[in-house]
Amino acid sequence: MAAAADQIEIEVHLPEGGTWAGMVEDVREGLSCPFKEIPPKYFYDERGSALFEAITELPEYYPTRAERAILDAEAVEIVAAARPTTLIELGSGAAAKTRCLLEAMSAAGTLETYVPVDISEEITRRVADELVGEYDDLRVHGVICDYETHLERVPREEGALIAFLGGTIGNFRPGPRRSFLARIATLMYPGDRFLLGTDLVKGQGVLEAAYNDSAGITAEFNRNVLSVLNRELEADFEPEQFEHVAFWDADNEWIDIRLRSLTEQFSDVTALDMRVHFSRNEEMRTEVSTKFTRERLESSYADAGLELTDWWTDPEELYALSLARPVA
Ligand code: AVJ
Repeated sequence: MAAAADQIEIEVHLPEGGTWAGMVEDVREGLSCPFKEIPPKYFYDERGSALFEAITELPEYYPTRAERAILDAEAVEIVAAARPTTLIELGSGAAAKTRCLLEAMSAAGTLETYVPVDISEEITRRVADELVGEYDDLRVHGVICDYETHLERVPREEGALIAFLGGTIGNFRPGPRRSFLARIATLMYPGDRFLLGTDLVKGQGVLEAAYNDSAGITAEFNRNVLSVLNRELEADFEPEQFEHVAFWDADNEWIDIRLRSLTEQFSDVTALDMRVHFSRNEEMRTEVSTKFTRERLESSYADAGLELTDWWTDPEELYALSLARPVA
């Protein structure tokens, strides 16, 4: 397929130090606070990504299935509302759900360019090769970067649908969420649309079950962050000495995910030249997963200079996809 090669362009903007650059500062700061915290982006090494894949197939973990069902049912409508020629996807990964959107764009006869933005060069190259095999005239312009730091490097042409799927927006606190959405709004041309996946507020039982699965995969996923720190920062955390905690915080409307120290213990983090103390039952936060209502999302959009134009949910209203445009 000689023709396919020139349909693909991949730009790499990885920070010096590679994928885990920034980890030293982030973890030093997080472990120095009285209420310790590790950013959720460090869950996803190879094992963490595989555990997350396993989570998406758990009976209790509905968000991935619900998002997929909405895309399957509504991709044609979404494309009709946004009328994009380019699909930009932040955190594209294996692009499993993206294909629904590309398919709908192709059927509408408007598909020109796919811009996957992801931290993994290997996966993005593989997806690019596959897609140009599936769509004859598709151009794939991949950008390998951390979309949070390098959002402004993403190539822009009017007529884009910027997709941020998977509910990852839930990991942001209100302040960083507002800045991130505002940066997206700034990048958008008037004719562009933003497509966002958000998990919705619902009964506490359903929410807490999704993060406390009976097979214990979420607990493994949570503890895996300690193995990442052990490897990347030459630390000696003992994952089995921590237990998984996840509960619904009704005031903040988020699932709060923590690791609770089973004993009093010390851990050395050689790369940070730090010795960390945990008292017995001390909890360290590893993630928040914010859940939304339509009203709350509308006000989040408004704070960022965006306006909600469309809203789609699954029949049980577990999850939503929404479309937003920049406020003129
Ligand atoms: C990938 C951030 C959407 O918040 O549900 C799943 C991650 N953490 N189980 C989520 C996660 C624990 C997930 N997101």
